[in-house]
Amino acid sequence: TIYRPNDASLSPLSSKTILFAGYGNQARSQALNLRDTFASSPDVSPPRILIANRADSYHETAIADGFSVTGFAEGAKEADVVFLLVPDQVAPALYNSEIGPNLRAGALVVVASGFNVFYKRLEIQDIDVGMVAPRMIGAGVRSRFLEGGGFPCFVSVENNSSGRALEMVLSLALGIGGLTAGAVECSARDETLMDLFAEQAIWPSIIVAFREAYSTLKKLGCSDEALVHELWLSKEPAEVFDKCAEDGFTSQLKYHSTVSQYGQLSTSLGMDVTKLQEFFKKVADRQWADFWRRWLTGTGINLEKRILGGEFTKEFTDIDNEGGGNGIEKKLEELYAAASTSELAAGEKRVRERMGLDKV
Ligand code: NAI
Repeated sequence: TIYRPNDASLSPLSSKTILFAGYGNQARSQALNLRDTFASSPDVSPPRILIANRADSYHETAIADGFSVTGFAEGAKEADVVFLLVPDQVAPALYNSEIGPNLRAGALVVVASGFNVFYKRLEIQDIDVGMVAPRMIGAGVRSRFLEGGGFPCFVSVENNSSGRALEMVLSLALGIGGLTAGAVECSARDETLMDLFAEQAIWPSIIVAFREAYSTLKKLGCSDEALVHELWLSKEPAEVFDKCAEDGFTSQLKYHSTVSQYGQLSTSLGMDVTKLQEFFKKVADRQWADFWRRWLTGTGINLEKRILGGEFTKEFTDIDNEGGGNGIEKKLEELYAAASTSELAAGEKRVRERMGLDKV
């Protein structure tokens, strides 16, 4: 199902209290969009928008933007709707200690990522839970709204204790501008699976392909300058993906030379992908045996066999809990350091220094 603006109305939100827990990338853009939507709809009485935030720079930004800022527990007590928009690794402890216990029965909690709902990290009782997940960084959620173009979005109802959760979720999606470009119905489960699979299987394969291509071509005599430009600095890959979205994943090949079209098609169709399939299967098996089974057998979603706790989630959480609760930052430093030892990274550093480009 794809939901369009005609499928929703703003009136379910009329005079409600909507709390944004957090005021970061997503929350700020969504809150500003929601306020602007009601400002341009004078026939509907607007909801009261509150922000809950710890004392940091985001707190100050919320005040500077003209919002009332409150505590998480105080805000939750008054809220009909809570947008839970703090980082995913922070959300469970915050929700389970301060927000959840203070919510009224029938309140709606909205997440922008399925992860914590799918892995049942939020203690949910007699409330509604929905997902409104922009497929877009926060800055884009705001700029596209202002341009009137909309942004891609996933929506779902994950718990419907009131019986009106879908109506409310669509109303909120309409309010933040998430229906303008059409919102795709997609469960928290499928969103989590696709996201984690992309992050742990697809993009690593692409990173490794570029890294190994760099070393291979370097051995064959290509210069750092030429390689960096050829492979990504020209932004050619970005243009290719742009055309994939506009014209179709394969149809965009027609923009390439005949030599390129023949090379890409004949090689990709003829490649031995056994190793890649094994890698993908390993990633999938590690966390989502039921997803992989469905992929292989086409038997449909098997909710009874839903995986409630994955190995990756545990690994991530265990690392984060090390060193007093921000272990993931330290781990990321180590990983960035390891990634910076490749020939590609060293070559790019030299080129960017020589070219006077600021970021490496
Ligand atoms: P963010 O990283 O911008 O969040 C910052 C906010 O979280 C600030 O308000 C900060 O005060 C608060 N915060 C941080 N640590 C905290 C703590 N320990 N205790 C209390 N508050 C804390 O978050 P972002 O990126 O907007 O993500 C929010 C949700 O949106 C997540 O579920 C994420 O997966 C989802 N999402 C994010 C996208 C993005 O482009 N960043 C895209 C689509 C979904």
